[in-house]
Parts: sequence; structure tokens; C-alpha cells
Amino acid sequence: MDNNEKLKYIVDSYNKDIKTIDDSLKLNEMRVKYLGKKSEIQEISLNLGSLSIEEKKELGKSLNEAKKYIEGDLNRLTEEIKNKELTTKLNKEKIDLTLPGTKFELGTKHPISIVREEIEELFVSMGYDVLDGPELEEDLYNFEMLNIPKGHPARDMQDSFYITEEKLLRTHTSPVQARAMLNNKEKSPIRIICSGYTYRKDNDDATHSHQFHQIEGLFIDENISMSDLKGTLELLSKKLFGESREIRIRSSYFPFTEPSIEIDISCFNCNKKGCSICKNSGWIEILGAGMVHPSVLRMGGYDPDKYSGFAFGMGLERIAMLKFGINDVRYFYSNDIRFLNQFNKIEGDSNESK
Ligand code: PHE
Repeated sequence: MDNNEKLKYIVDSYNKDIKTIDDSLKLNEMRVKYLGKKSEIQEISLNLGSLSIEEKKELGKSLNEAKKYIEGDLNRLTEEIKNKELTTKLNKEKIDLTLPGTKFELGTKHPISIVREEIEELFVSMGYDVLDGPELEEDLYNFEMLNIPKGHPARDMQDSFYITEEKLLRTHTSPVQARAMLNNKEKSPIRIICSGYTYRKDNDDATHSHQFHQIEGLFIDENISMSDLKGTLELLSKKLFGESREIRIRSSYFPFTEPSIEIDISCFNCNKKGCSICKNSGWIEILGAGMVHPSVLRMGGYDPDKYSGFAFGMGLERIAMLKFGINDVRYFYSNDIRFLNQFNKIEGDSNESK
């Protein structure tokens, strides 16, 4: 068989083969078989070099014709089959526009997150940094560096979950104070806010939870006084519970602050007249605070003769319960969608109207 006959034979067999092809996969195989690198046509073109110029010209022409014919036919068929496959697919996937759509439920922000973000926003606007600390904490930071040595009776105020002798689930966010002081190598002023989970061995009921959230603030600089603390907490109370809130300072005790105070806000429900929310006192306790104890400053590497500071800490659940009128702390952890959905519209609302 000379080359021309071979070509004719190839085209004939292509024509025969192609009749049985009806999908794009097989069509591709055909393309490889007849035009690919190992195809017979390719083999003939590789042999062109050994021919005389005359023969080359003649065979080259027929080669091109054969290639073009097969290529054109394959392209036409590709288009045809693609269209056919698309029509079949569309017919199979007919869309029923009358069916109800799939509803995607949008999540809502958890009330604890709403309150946390509101507080963080206020403090960030005053130049505080948001800091994080570990929930599995060392006794050293949770107690010792906060002026609560082993055997100190204040340890009983916070019943703890110990994991080992030296490690426990943090009972408050105050260890972050100690960490922030130690981590600041330049011993420059500190302004931080830190929130997160805290743990105490409590029996869960409507007002107690063994796992809860706190948010903590620490401000250290030269000449910081109680009036700075008071002004800051007044701002915070107004932001959380409305412009007309007043605050009241009561003396208290924490080993890591001296003096220590507790802050009450005027009851937002009755405006000091007395109601069930404020237990008829007109005031509601919201947080603990104080001036950082000189020993705590010293242990953190700060000279108490040069620096002073204030710190405060509060439970986020309590704030959220007061703010949103929630009467059972367990709602926060029950993941009941009916509870959570109520906070859909609350985010960003202010308490100005209260
Ligand atoms: N850590 C204290 C508590 O959990 C609260 C507090 C923080 C008090 C900072 C004073 C200063 O009860």
C-alpha cells in the first residue's frame, strides 16, 4: 500500500468508526486515534522527510486534505454532540419555578457577644488594646501574681477546677492583668481590655453557672487615680444602660486592688424608686474594681512609686441579663433557636430610650 492508498484507507476507516460515536468522551478518543501524536496520519507526516521534493509536495497536499477533512468533521460533531448533551441535561434538570425555595437561616449574634462587642468598642475608642489569655491558667497568674498566695483565705472566694497542682481553669480574667504587665518589657503604660470564659465550681441554677464570661480592664500609667476609674466606669455604665444612669461606689475587698470597690448603677427600670429588678434598693451591682495593689504592680515589674493603675472586672452574663431582661443564665447555653432569634434586631440598638 503506498502512502496515498494508506491515507484513503485511514479516511475510510475514520468514516466507518465515526458512525458509532455519540458522546463527547468517545469523540475525544477518536481525535486522539486519528490526529494524535501516535496516529497513522502523524506517522506518515514523519516519513515525509525521506521523500523527493515532488513526492513531498504531492503527499503533503493529500495529507493536509485528509487531516483537514477529519479535523473539520470532528469539530462539527463536537459541536453537535455538545448541543445534544446540553439539551438532554436541561430536559432532565427542568426547574419547577412554582416550588418553594430553600431557605437559608441566617445566624444571629449571641447576646453575650453583643454585650462584649459593645464594651470592647467603647474601650477601643479610648485607646485600649484587646488582649486574650489562656482559659487553662497557671496558679501563678490566676492567684499568686494577684497577691493571693497559697493558703490565702481569698482562694475560697473562688472555688476552682484544678487540673494539676499548678494548673486550673481560670476563675477570673484577672490573670491577664499579670500577663500583660510581665509581657510589657519596656514597662510602658498599659491600656487593655480582655474577655473570655471563666470557671468556678458552682451548682448551676438560674443565676449561677460553672462556666461564664468576664471582661476585664487594666489601665497603668503615671498619676492614675480613683477619679480616672470613676469617670471610666461612668462612661461604661451609660454606654451599656443609657445616658441617664448614675453610678454609686461601694467599698469592697479584692486582694489585688487597694482600695477595692464595687459599682452599682441606678436601676434602669424604676430609676431608683425600687422594683423587683433592683430588689427594691434602687441600685444594681454590676462590677468589681479598684486601684491596682502596689504588690501586684511590683510583681508585674512596675515601680509602684512611679506608676499607678486601675482595674475592673465584670460578668458578661449578668450584664446581658440586666440589659435584655433575661431571668435565667442557663438560656445562654441552651442553644435554643427561639431564644437566640430574639436578638436578631437588638444589635446596634441603644438604651437611650430607657
Ligand atoms: N477578678 C474579680 C472577680 O472575679 C473582679 C475584679 C477585677 C476586681 C479587677 C477588681 C479588679 O471577682
